[in-house]
Amino acid sequence: MLPHEMSRLETYALDLLRTRRKHWSLPQPFYTEEAFFEIDMKHVFGRQWIFVALSCEVPNPGDWITVEVGRDSIIILRDNDRQIRAFHNSCRHRGSRICLEHQGKAKRLVCPYHQWTYDLTGELIRTRYMEGDFDRSEFGLKPVHCENLSGYIFLCLADEAPAFDKFRADLEPFIKRQDIENAKVAYTQVLHEKANWKLVMENNRECYHCASNHPELLRTLAEFDDPTDPRVDPKYVDLMRRKNEEWDAQGVPHGPTDPNIRYRAVRLPFIDGHQSMTLDGTLACRKLMADFTDYDLGSVRMLSLPNNWNHLLSDHMMAFRVMPISAQETIVTTKWLVHKDAVEGVDYDVEKLTAVWKATNDQDKELAEWNQLGINNSRYEPGPYSAVIEMGVRDLIQWYTDELEVSLCDTLGLPPPAVSTAPTERAVYTPPPGRAPAAAPAAPAE
Ligand code: FES
Ligand SMILES: [Fe+2]
Repeated sequence: MLPHEMSRLETYALDLLRTRRKHWSLPQPFYTEEAFFEIDMKHVFGRQWIFVALSCEVPNPGDWITVEVGRDSIIILRDNDRQIRAFHNSCRHRGSRICLEHQGKAKRLVCPYHQWTYDLTGELIRTRYMEGDFDRSEFGLKPVHCENLSGYIFLCLADEAPAFDKFRADLEPFIKRQDIENAKVAYTQVLHEKANWKLVMENNRECYHCASNHPELLRTLAEFDDPTDPRVDPKYVDLMRRKNEEWDAQGVPHGPTDPNIRYRAVRLPFIDGHQSMTLDGTLACRKLMADFTDYDLGSVRMLSLPNNWNHLLSDHMMAFRVMPISAQETIVTTKWLVHKDAVEGVDYDVEKLTAVWKATNDQDKELAEWNQLGINNSRYEPGPYSAVIEMGVRDLIQWYTDELEVSLCDTLGLPPPAVSTAPTERAVYTPPPGRAPAAAPAAPAE
């Protein structure tokens, strides 16, 4: 899109944001239009820290992978000092893509076109036939801001990245404990969903839909993640208290993290004495992750907007990555990790490991796609998010609209708007007179 067209679109998007109803779903173009996909890629995925990969995907120096973020292909590699780095996958000669596959191993990166050669720090080290005054030091690969949060790799494509320190400090205790450097990816699932990325995330941020759609998930997962919810079964409150004491004694973090609307982590026990997110609730992997000796660690539910949620257990973990590829298409990648020394067929069985979330992902894909189809209808209009059960969606969309407004104002030279930081307060559900309280789950997110 040319700059003058983008500028008109940005003004229109800002108008729509400012006239929308707070805590209601978004106006149609945000979910349906390619022009608004461009807005999201520039102002959200182009400015924020986004989750892209796990450090154990590049375990050794020279290992590299590529990830696509909108039209950008990014190389993520481990250099000879074991540092993880990220570069634009575009040669500084005439721009060719350098790494053509999704993963590989190399001592140096060699462009396939005219063989300009870069070392693992991105420096240009070899060229042929360039005249005498050509200065290689001016033609290193363009770096991308890259943070390794105890094995979670986050990138920021902006010139200047937002602060990372508080995010790191809050989430590091949970992630560090999982020892991702000594883990391996046991299975990867890539789902191509015909739905806008915000619908995929909205669906994840509530469990309003769980009871009628996720029988496998609800065999082990408690349907809420707020221990203060008045409707939580007193037996479960008791279990949480007991488990928190045990986890404190073992130095296993349980949170929750300080309230904010961009990220959170909380460790919660499974229901009915289950140990893992499997169909029968028994362990999926006999060899536990990290140096865990206690298999009964529940799961850490961890969220980082705009594009990642996770479950971290004693025996395995799952990291989910959401990448928009067009206004109505999103790639959802799920990675299941186990200890690097766990042996397939001996310690774990991939079918058992992946059964619950494969089923859940398929169900969620269908729900998001139905949501998209309905929103494409000419009579779609925004509807309200419940303050009893969809607080996570309220927070997601609040964060999205706030950040988008900040970025649009910045680009258009307007004063910055105020933004929200506190999560939505749960409303208490009062049934209409004469009707018994609903047995509905008090479930903000899965
Ligand atoms: S474009 Fe890479 S060497 Fe020419
Ligand atoms: Fe779901």
